[in-house]
Amino acid sequence: MNLIDKVYIITGGSSGLGKAFAHELKVNFADVIITGRDLEKLKSVSEELGCSYFHADVTNDEEIDALMEFTLKKFKKLDGIINNAGIGGWAPVEELTREKMQEVYNVNVFGAAMMGAKAAKIFKEQNFGTIVNIASTASLKGYKNGSIYASSKFALRGMTQCWQAELRPFNVRVIQINPSEVPTAFGVDDRTERSLEENKLTPKEIADVLISSLKMDERGFVPEVSVFATNPF
Ligand SMILES: NC(=O)c1ccc[n+]([C@@H]2O[C@H](COP(=O)([O-])OP(=O)(O)OC[C@H]3O[C@@H](n4cnc5c(N)ncnc54)[C@H](OP(=O)(O)O)[C@@H]3O)[C@@H](O)[C@H]2O)c1
Repeated sequence: MNLIDKVYIITGGSSGLGKAFAHELKVNFADVIITGRDLEKLKSVSEELGCSYFHADVTNDEEIDALMEFTLKKFKKLDGIINNAGIGGWAPVEELTREKMQEVYNVNVFGAAMMGAKAAKIFKEQNFGTIVNIASTASLKGYKNGSIYASSKFALRGMTQCWQAELRPFNVRVIQINPSEVPTAFGVDDRTERSLEENKLTPKEIADVLISSLKMDERGFVPEVSVFATNPF
């Protein structure tokens, strides 16, 4: 399937992986709407990439509704969403607080869930569509101090599998991509981008997996794919 004139929303498309997804989708002549919380960053990235933007926080249901309305009004259809917005949070088990858990879950779990809910309604009606959940290799195995972040990605993985069971009869593809470490602004307190490192993954490898999954003929889909650096040590 070619991606020409297909319409994709990328949550958190203003930096890191989401920005690379937007770039590669534009290279493939798709229409892209990126979202994020930092309006200035959104505007400048959308100008740089030549894509649309919509200022929306995935923790806010009204803003998600407005994003969907904006997209359908501007492009008259929606081919896919990339649930990419995500934040980190790590703590030893004895230091867990409800607030820390809720902050991460609000974005990584509830935000993705509400985006999925709105998109599924549209996709079931039109009988096509793709939902891509950007989880993590942390969704596959727990690790020290990972209670907050890893469990949020386990939850996202659970939703991926439920949505696959529900939506396949409507020709809707639900794809999960699990990157391992990619140096980005992710987990950096002041949100500055980390420099790329020789042996570690770059956003491009993850974007390549996204594009090849989307390009597959719609009769097939990749339920889940993990991406590791070959030798990051
Ligand atoms: N980098 C890694 O090593 C890695 C590994 C595995 C999985 N992942 C996953 O990949 C995804 C992207 O990570 P990244 O490395 O590209 O991180 P990033 O560079 O920090 O980018 C995160 C993006 O999400 C946006 N965002 C954050 N909270 C949001 C919210 N509440 N509503 C809307 N947008 C929001 C950010 O925009 P603002 O700055 O405007 O908030 C930014 O555009 C995340 O889900 C992350 O868990 C990353």
